[in-house]
Amino acid sequence: MDKNDNSIFKGMKKSGFLVVLMSLVVMFTVGCKDDDPDPVWHATPYVFDIPVGFPTNLNIPSDNPMTVEGIELGRHLFYDGRLSGRTHPDSLMTCATCHRQSRAFDLGVDHPVYNDPDGRPWGLTGHKTPHTVLSLVNLVWNHQGYMWNGVVSKDNTMLGSPAHDVPPLPEYHWNNIESVVWLAIVDPHEIVGHPDRTVALLSTVTDPDYPAMFEQAFGTPEITYDRISKAIGQFIRTIVSSNSTAHKAWRGEANFTDAERMGWMLFMTEEGADCFHCHGGDGSPLMTTHLFYNNAKDTCFVGVCANPRDRYSVTKNDRDRGAFKAPTLINVEHTGPYMHDGRFRTLDEVIQFYNSGLKYSEYAHPLMHKLFPPYSNGMNLNPVQLQQLKAFLLSLTDNELLTDPKYSNPRPDNPFFIQW
Ligand code: HEC
Ligand code: HEC
Repeated sequence: MDKNDNSIFKGMKKSGFLVVLMSLVVMFTVGCKDDDPDPVWHATPYVFDIPVGFPTNLNIPSDNPMTVEGIELGRHLFYDGRLSGRTHPDSLMTCATCHRQSRAFDLGVDHPVYNDPDGRPWGLTGHKTPHTVLSLVNLVWNHQGYMWNGVVSKDNTMLGSPAHDVPPLPEYHWNNIESVVWLAIVDPHEIVGHPDRTVALLSTVTDPDYPAMFEQAFGTPEITYDRISKAIGQFIRTIVSSNSTAHKAWRGEANFTDAERMGWMLFMTEEGADCFHCHGGDGSPLMTTHLFYNNAKDTCFVGVCANPRDRYSVTKNDRDRGAFKAPTLINVEHTGPYMHDGRFRTLDEVIQFYNSGLKYSEYAHPLMHKLFPPYSNGMNLNPVQLQQLKAFLLSLTDNELLTDPKYSNPRPDNPFFIQW
């Protein structure tokens, strides 16, 4: 960890973004005194624009407040294939290789390279990722842990690596987006970078711009692994998706079609499709509770379907066997393949599963009550209702996000920068 990075923020409380901003203002004022021998660091605090109706409680760690310069640096790094510590065109891999803006920063079923039936991409060493990719939208509102099983969580005091096959970084807490960034860069399933090699590459002649950008973001031109993770973490927290047709309709800026409105009603009612308990929509525009459930995909008994990376692997609580995060359904049109194992490629398959394909197990979450009479293995909707439910799910697509220039590749002409 680069201890120097944080000195200006020492003593800052964790109690919210406004406190962070106010502290920054105070510290900058103090830092500007004439008799202060330290170089003055002029990073511009980022003012987070919370969309109407979204929660105000943001997950921004106190040792990585967001700044305009940090975010811009993070956006560059997110798209820079040299994160792999290599320069050969075949060995470049970026975050955007798997997290594509046009697919809401998920993989999509139409990836030009990663389109195996199981929907899992693979890293530069050829190892497939254990799970399918997750979308990166609205992560600043997630307080319940990152990854499909929530292994990277604020409450986590575990040191070292959460994965058996990832080189451990001692004294690193797996507690926030910054940890996921580090993991993504070094993981053999992903970019397979190496802290020294990646840092050295970004520091050298291959890019004269980075030292100045690091200086603007962090006060000195020094490039460290910790700063790379922090800058990318800042960029990811700016990715906000709040302009789908449904969100606009909820704000009174657009109208649902009749089918979309009926679908929303089904989504929200227990006797209808009953999706809202786990995927939100009941006053929360995030379309997820961020919690973990076993949604009755498998006939699963102890020892028979033990998944080595389910929620149980993190909590050791029997009730979490076969449970995974309920992902946000915002942009669900584009976030396939679906489920942690990519077993469904189309929304129609997912809807059919919830309609009649539920499988009983002792670990199925009680909210999957449509396993039981008067229902039969699902919600048992008629074809018209199924179309309405699908219309509502499609109204959750935020087309503005998919092309918003502020999230796009900053250097499309640079061969090291890749956007799939
Ligand atoms: C080879 C494909 C691949 C690459 C490259 C990749 N990721 Fe991911 N990413 C994934 C997969 C797969 C997951 C889900 C992992 C899991 O939960 O098991 C994921 C999950 C995440 C999450 C957690 C999302 C959530 O809701 O919990 C974040 C954050 C993330 N990636 C950021 C990044 C960043 C930053 C980079 C670049 C440094 C990156 N990823 C590169 C495949 C990739
Ligand atoms: C008991 C909680 C629960 C209920 C109720 C529920 N889901 Fe889910 N949903 C989940 C979980 C958990 C996952 C991820 C499961 C996994 O990957 O193993 C999921 C995954 C999905 C996915 C795939 C998302 C992706 O990006 O991979 C879609 C689409 C979906 N659900 C739609 C619905 C719809 C529509 C309904 C109502 C008919 C519904 N869900 C009801 C918990 C629930």
